[in-house]
Amino acid sequence: MSIVFERQAHPLGIHRVLEPEGAMPQNAWKLDNTPVALENEILCEVETLNVDSASFKQIADECGGDAEKISRHIAGIVRERGKQHNPVTGSGGMFIGHVLKVGEALRSKVDVKAGDRIASLVSLTLTPLHVEAITRIDVATGRVWIRGKAILFESGLWAKLPADIDEGVALAVLDVAGAPAQVQRLCREGQTVVVIGADGKSGVLSCAQARARTGASGRVVGIVLDDTTASSRLLRDTNLVDELVVADARNALDVLEKVAAAAPGLADITINCVNVPGTELASILSTKQDGTVYFFSMSTSFTAAALGAEGVGKDVTMIVGNGYAKGHAATALQTLRDHPALHAYFNDIYARVPEQRI
Ligand SMILES: NC(=O)c1ccc[n+]([C@@H]2O[C@H](COP(=O)([O-])OP(=O)(O)OC[C@H]3O[C@@H](n4cnc5c(N)ncnc54)[C@H](OP(=O)(O)O)[C@@H]3O)[C@@H](O)[C@H]2O)c1
Repeated sequence: MSIVFERQAHPLGIHRVLEPEGAMPQNAWKLDNTPVALENEILCEVETLNVDSASFKQIADECGGDAEKISRHIAGIVRERGKQHNPVTGSGGMFIGHVLKVGEALRSKVDVKAGDRIASLVSLTLTPLHVEAITRIDVATGRVWIRGKAILFESGLWAKLPADIDEGVALAVLDVAGAPAQVQRLCREGQTVVVIGADGKSGVLSCAQARARTGASGRVVGIVLDDTTASSRLLRDTNLVDELVVADARNALDVLEKVAAAAPGLADITINCVNVPGTELASILSTKQDGTVYFFSMSTSFTAAALGAEGVGKDVTMIVGNGYAKGHAATALQTLRDHPALHAYFNDIYARVPEQRI
């Protein structure tokens, strides 16, 4: 019998922690992923995982981009840890699927019932996940189709999937929902905003929010590796940025020079949306004294950011990219509805399922 049935069900899911003792589900090494809902849990049939970009890139690089190897790698992590928690990047992702069962103690408390289609809004790093099979992988977007089940705790967050947005698109947007919501909260009329990794999922949504919040008197500068991609063209053609700067964010001095040319006073707010390590200094140097850096990237090192800012004498407020902000799912989906060209771009990329099966 699984250990989970011998413990009192805790709202935060602590009863599912197998090791180490005293850990919370997120920082635990291993969870009990028995696919049965206790009285305060929700059991879901999972259809697709959106593996967090930093995690998927690390796994894909290690597997040489080979879908079968990536599939075995991901299955191995879940088998070992009872959750999709990449031990190298420490990050996870989220899932979409439908509710199979709501535990008896929760039924009167939550607005969700068996059969509802939902997206999880808590990280896969704390979500007990049981994978029977991985059936498809889209290497280009980090989406993984599975047969499997997941548990949401009483404290877990989820969103019902909207009827007017394709589910693949909703999965992609909700995974990064914290970014546009935080940008909306941070930016003010007339400010200069630099978005690093502007042409990725969270990057384009952040540019859209930055443009809306800073208005005609504001300035939005995007840093991209390649300004000929479809998303770079979209950013330019729809005026979601005033300028795109081509630079490798791992080269801090090059970024500083180019940002200073595009926005001489530097950024009031810099949003870091890249999926590679080593970009903390570029973010800090792009930001003016007393400005704010929002590190949405999961590849951010606290040490590199803290000591880097000290080393270059920058008194900037640095915000850890909390994946949750009140109303973030609604804000992220509304960003899409408010920008039909952005919505069409997401449809092109995410509203399709790769033909090839694993
Ligand atoms: N804080 C949270 O709760 C949370 C939630 C979800 C995701 N995340 C993290 O947020 C980050 C962005 O996620 P996403 O889904 O938006 O990723 P994404 O769609 O893969 O976008 C990442 C972007 O960064 C660009 N990039 C990579 N290396 C770069 C470099 N050296 N210089 C400049 N740009 C570079 C990529 O360009 P190319 O495509 O040309 O390589 C891509 O456009 C990731 O680190 C992800 O793990 C955080």
